[in-house]
Amino acid sequence: MVKLAILGFGTVGTGVAEVLSQNAQTINAHAADTIELKYILDIRDFPESPFADKVIHDFSVIENDPEIRIVVETIGGLRVAYDYTKRALLAGKSVVTSNKELVAERGAELIKLAREKNVNYLFEASVGGGIPIIRPLTQCLSANDIHEITGVLNGTTNYILTRMQKDGVALETALKEAQENGYAEANPSADIDGPDACRKICILADLAFGHHIAPSAVTTEGISGITQQDMQYAKDAGYVIKLLGRVVRRDDGRINILVAPHLVPMERPLAGVSGVFNGIVVIGNAIDEVMFYGRGAGKLPTASAVAADVIDAAKHLVSRKFIDWSDDAPDFVADTNEMIYRYCVRLGNCTAAQVLAVFPHAQSVTETPEYTAFITDPASARDVERKIDRLCADGAVQQSRIRILD
Ligand code: HSE
Repeated sequence: MVKLAILGFGTVGTGVAEVLSQNAQTINAHAADTIELKYILDIRDFPESPFADKVIHDFSVIENDPEIRIVVETIGGLRVAYDYTKRALLAGKSVVTSNKELVAERGAELIKLAREKNVNYLFEASVGGGIPIIRPLTQCLSANDIHEITGVLNGTTNYILTRMQKDGVALETALKEAQENGYAEANPSADIDGPDACRKICILADLAFGHHIAPSAVTTEGISGITQQDMQYAKDAGYVIKLLGRVVRRDDGRINILVAPHLVPMERPLAGVSGVFNGIVVIGNAIDEVMFYGRGAGKLPTASAVAADVIDAAKHLVSRKFIDWSDDAPDFVADTNEMIYRYCVRLGNCTAAQVLAVFPHAQSVTETPEYTAFITDPASARDVERKIDRLCADGAVQQSRIRILD
């Protein structure tokens, strides 16, 4: 019998308890052992929950209980989660987590600690909710030199953009729905402004390229500036707007990495990733292109990934899974402004003729009483900004500037 504890009984923690209980027969068969939930740690009590009798409030009970071999951390954040994770690993227990913030910020250190204690630190649920991506990337694709990873990595913002685009609802209304469905972060700014997707692309880049990439080094733009006008223009020009996390290996061996809204051509598979779904495209030198798709957020899909890690940890109680990366490499992250993109630009107080005087090769130029929108040639952000600045010096007002995924 393998006993475990869940830390944090929020959306994901509750889901893990439910999946472990409802799918016990399947899970035990795959683990070739009986997996038993012994404790749930939370500061609250849950008298109505079928798991009420397992709730405790003191982490040291778990830390000092030799029967507990696996700790599931679904607290989230960096402070308490980091402390408990470290203490659990030091006590010789494997830790399974959905906490992308902790993995992105302190993953290298916690993996190292797990290695020293000959236990596992597993985090399949930290990226893409229920989508298998950590194992495929580190095992099935491990014979490839990875060239690029591009993905819709945040279910909440994808749900919001889809509702805005398909149904014309306001961002705030769609966010409320996402919160009601259990998709959003406790502080939804982590979704809307991009940090959640940033943490996820960092984890994928860490795994693909072998170095820790600090989320603070990643250019991160959110969706709060996206309007119905952008969506309508994108649609008319044959695109949909998606918040993408993207990391690209350069010829000099460094990487470009960013999170930002992109116009995605309708015919690209990522354009079809709607609602809470996530899609992750990995390009490798042998595999060419492969895409992973599924529910990127939500109680049970995320719990599915956590529970699978529990099974894996139970099967590897005294051996290690080789998921790894090293510390930061200086200058590994190159300047995002050097990336070459076509841009969709929307300017107020500016005519099509004025645009064409500065951007003579502009395409899909659309002049309306409120704005003129157009698509630039491929160029660096710096070059495009310089030209936009010239128009602004003559009175134009920049309303939006969105990259195009070519
Ligand atoms: N808030 C996250 C999302 C949860 O919407 O994708 C899953 O990581």
